[in-house]
Amino acid sequence: MTVIIIRPARSADVEDIVAMLADDPLGASRERPGDPRYAEAFAELDADPRQVLAVAELDGELVGTLQLTFIPGLSRVGATRALIEAVRVRSDLRGGGLGKQLVEWAIDEAKQAGCALIQLTTDASRAKAHRFYERLGFQASHVGMKLVF
Ligand SMILES: CC(C)(COP(=O)(O)OP(=O)(O)OC[C@H]1O[C@@H](n2cnc3c(N)ncnc32)[C@H](O)[C@@H]1OP(=O)(O)O)[C@@H](O)C(=O)NCCC(=O)NCCS
Repeated sequence: MTVIIIRPARSADVEDIVAMLADDPLGASRERPGDPRYAEAFAELDADPRQVLAVAELDGELVGTLQLTFIPGLSRVGATRALIEAVRVRSDLRGGGLGKQLVEWAIDEAKQAGCALIQLTTDASRAKAHRFYERLGFQASHVGMKLVF
């Protein structure tokens, strides 16, 4: 098994992270690599203790990313939940077990932070990703809804 190092992202990683977000059929139309707004967004994330933008590193190269957010709340007796967003493994390395390591890392982080649950949404068209998450224990128990501005 190829073992990756998972660490918080640094500002120098932003370009590579954006490249991974864009290197995907859905991301390609949504992302604009080179746009200065990514650096502003990173600064905001980095200053927020409830956000972890994580990267996976293999032999000094970035090979994956995800964003983990801790959401405090009143429901479930004041439980904090974790949210996973923007999961990507570099396209030439998909299917090799890196995504599993990345998401299992996020699950462990959420447990260690005392979260009551971890949740995510994944585009309805991503059948492979649905299978991937189900194998990691996630259940499609809810219907995700979005209103995009
Ligand atoms: C989904 C993703 C993060 C999984 O990471 P990974 O390293 O490829 O996954 P693993 O090797 O640990 O697990 C393989 C499983 O991932 C799933 N998978 C999803 N998209 C895949 C892809 N493009 N290529 C290969 N496997 C993919 C499959 O279920 C696969 O299992 P299978 O071999 O039985 O089909 C990664 O494939 C990816 O970045 N895909 C494109 C973007 C995406 O769908 N992101 C999730 C948005 S919520």
